[in-house]
Amino acid sequence: MGIPHLHLPSKLELPIYSTIPLAIGIVALVRAAWGVLRFIRFHLLNFNSKHALEKYHHGRSFALVTGSAAGIGFGFAQELVRRGYGVIIHSRSQHKLDEATARLKAIRPDPSVRHLVCDAFDFTPDALHAALNAFADLPLSVLVNNRARRRHDTYSARDVDMSVALNARFMAHVTRAMLPALRRAPRSLILNLTSAARDGMPWSVAYSAAKGFATSFSYALTRELRAVGASVDCLLVVPGTVHSQYNNRKQPRGTPTADAYARMTLERVDAAVGWGWLEMVPSMHHDLLLGVGALLPEMVYQRALVGQMQRYLKPKDGKKD
Ligand SMILES: NC(=O)c1ccc[n+]([C@@H]2O[C@H](COP(=O)([O-])OP(=O)(O)OC[C@H]3O[C@@H](n4cnc5c(N)ncnc54)[C@H](OP(=O)(O)O)[C@@H]3O)[C@@H](O)[C@H]2O)c1
Repeated sequence: MGIPHLHLPSKLELPIYSTIPLAIGIVALVRAAWGVLRFIRFHLLNFNSKHALEKYHHGRSFALVTGSAAGIGFGFAQELVRRGYGVIIHSRSQHKLDEATARLKAIRPDPSVRHLVCDAFDFTPDALHAALNAFADLPLSVLVNNRARRRHDTYSARDVDMSVALNARFMAHVTRAMLPALRRAPRSLILNLTSAARDGMPWSVAYSAAKGFATSFSYALTRELRAVGASVDCLLVVPGTVHSQYNNRKQPRGTPTADAYARMTLERVDAAVGWGWLEMVPSMHHDLLLGVGALLPEMVYQRALVGQMQRYLKPKDGKKD
């Protein structure tokens, strides 16, 4: 008995109702693979760290970092001094700036350090402009809008005002005042710090909303600067939890210190700007958490956020915050 012949169609023809889902599936797979490759390249194959930020350094260059006597801001100041920048550091207290300067001098014997003493809550645009005018003679090429207020919010009038002032109003006015100086540099950079809380963190309502402001402010500015061909790069930085002056409680494993966070951010700026990104998540740990969070259904995600805030709001050593 001979083997029966199989008659295969010369062309594989799939009905339309199965072609469309197949095409959507392929596009989704390609997107996912692209995301994984991008993640690996950004976090694990970013070998240019030694030369990071060189394109913004023009012989003698200064960086202004707001909120930089402690925390992530001080981490930025340290890393910029290491890379040969002069820094303008900022706090409400002259005493804290003196202490921070002494610590910067331990990194390099004669760093150029200038001080901006200003309360980011209680300022008028004119007074801020006048204070910043004291640096008009300095070749500014980096601005880090770091200062913000990260605490749980109550709905007191002062809390709402403070969240909006420190997280939104201050950065907008500092940027407005410094943009002309940044545009004079051959190439310059603005980094704006937002927070993963911009998605809407319970018990941090005004903070979350103000970080939403920081996000759209930064996106719009980046797009406008590109559209007019300005020599100013602008990038939004999205931190998750970082050990810092304010955030000094026990944190989950993998939480970066303020110094490490500032270093990894500056080391990744060139890649993110070069690839035309509007924002970056410099910590691999944060990027993974945010990626997983984005895949969760809202009910599960909300439970995770509530758990995180409850741990944060728990009195420390029996004391209230
Ligand atoms: N740490 C985190 O877990 C975390 C998470 C997400 C996002 N972020 C973002 O990262 C950035 C830095 O956060 P951080 O945790 O490093 O903050 P931080 O530890 O609270 O920063 C401390 C610095 O801010 C200054 N500062 C505080 N209040 C001020 C005011 N009213 N006017 C002027 N300066 C003031 C402090 O100086 P004086 O007190 O001496 O004035 C000090 O130099 C913020 O944009 C924050 O939203 C942080």
